[in-house]
Amino acid sequence: MASITIRNLDEQTKQLLREQAARHGRSMEEEVRHMLRDATTPPSVSADDPPPQPAEAGGSLSGKRILLVITGGIAAYKSLDLIRRLRERGAAVRPVMTEAAKQFVSPLAVGALAADKVFEDLFSREDEQDVGHIRLARSCELVLVAPATADFIGKMALGIANDLASTIVLATNSKVLIAPAMNPAMWNHLAVQRNVETVKRDRVEVVGPMRGEMAESGEAGLGRMAEPLDIVAVVEALLDDGPKPLAGKTAIVTSGPTHEPIDPVRYIANRSSGKQGHAIAAALARLGADVTLVSGPVTIADPQGTKTIHVESARDMLNAVEGQLPADIAVMVAAVADWRAAGQSGEKIKKKPGEAPPPLMLTENPDILKTVGHHAKRPTLVVGFAAETQNLEDNARAKLQRKGADWIVANDVSPDTGIMGGDHNRVRIVTHSGIEDWPKMDKQSVAERLAREIVKSLTGSSKTG
Ligand SMILES: Cc1cc2nc3c(=O)[nH]c(=O)nc-3n(C[C@H](O)[C@H](O)[C@H](O)COP(=O)(O)O)c2cc1C
Repeated sequence: MASITIRNLDEQTKQLLREQAARHGRSMEEEVRHMLRDATTPPSVSADDPPPQPAEAGGSLSGKRILLVITGGIAAYKSLDLIRRLRERGAAVRPVMTEAAKQFVSPLAVGALAADKVFEDLFSREDEQDVGHIRLARSCELVLVAPATADFIGKMALGIANDLASTIVLATNSKVLIAPAMNPAMWNHLAVQRNVETVKRDRVEVVGPMRGEMAESGEAGLGRMAEPLDIVAVVEALLDDGPKPLAGKTAIVTSGPTHEPIDPVRYIANRSSGKQGHAIAAALARLGADVTLVSGPVTIADPQGTKTIHVESARDMLNAVEGQLPADIAVMVAAVADWRAAGQSGEKIKKKPGEAPPPLMLTENPDILKTVGHHAKRPTLVVGFAAETQNLEDNARAKLQRKGADWIVANDVSPDTGIMGGDHNRVRIVTHSGIEDWPKMDKQSVAERLAREIVKSLTGSSKTG
């Protein structure tokens, strides 16, 4: 068999080889072996390959490489949507699946959506030669584990590396984010809580879980995986290296509905999901603002990079907002109940046979936007939201004057628009100088555009990257 001695190559070839080997972090012998194998085997995946072309370039995650570890939970089906959302924003997603994950979602579907090979086996000769688990672990900006099972979190906490996914998590020097998903009893178990605390101490970021109904058995509680868009928002915040034109500015954002108690078990609420307000808080934080989010009861995750104060009623929300003044920016997105029950019952109101239903008397809630708009410590920029089902522009213009706001973001929340609780929004920006009509966009895009307008208004600059 012929052998090649590097020493015998001419100087120019040796120099080129030396440079190429250094670029790939290999010895010259290793580089030659790779070159020969590449030349003689059909094309396969290498960590040195450029990341697969994302669905859309120029998004908020453009150029970012994410290693997505899918573990064996029922929420694994959501990882398909997660891949799509990450790629939509420009990320290259390289999937890794545990053995158990393959019971829940097919590697074929995962690979097709990611437009990349699915890595599964620590002891695959082909994968190990092509990429190697250590380089796989390092050729990304983020390792995202979604869903993260109780089992996998336990392995992370103990430093166990007995399959490809767990080995990668130990070997990586990139950021690690996990999205736990499990039955509420499992999540609440002391062992799981202990493990979660341990991985947090090891600088692993955690998103969720959320409260809600489980996919199986109709059980409800804390344990649902965070929704893909919420995970994406955390990924964006973690990988953000964009300009910070709002550095040094403080912002208060309200979000979600309020719950106005009738008695200890019943309350008046509305359909606000908090998606728009949370997205605005996250977008302002990404631009460097010091953001406090005052959130009513929602089922979505607290946005990354903000301080979140959780409240229930309009009065609690007002107290929390006033407690954060002075601030430079106030964006009042919450759907605050106009009325609350007059005289909350201390006991559950009982249904009595033969008696007429009790009357529900209402009294007016404090007007948070108006209070902030006329406050002695009024923020420099006060933005309110107007959710209307009729006469959108007239109502928004009147609200602008009455509330002392600088801008009103008006949206039509008639049921057929799907805006209340949905993922999209179509807004009109009403200011003292006119009205701007924005096309239908997802709520994150509305948030980003609004944040850019806020930068322009406060700094006179449009450089937000
Ligand atoms: C139908 C079914 C659903 C499951 N769902 C979950 C889950 O949501 N979360 C979880 O932590 N474990 C769940 N498990 C248990 C895991 O699949 C099991 O712990 C497995 O060993 C996890 O392996 P992995 O962490 O290597 O992916 C489920 C098991 C079954 C059979």
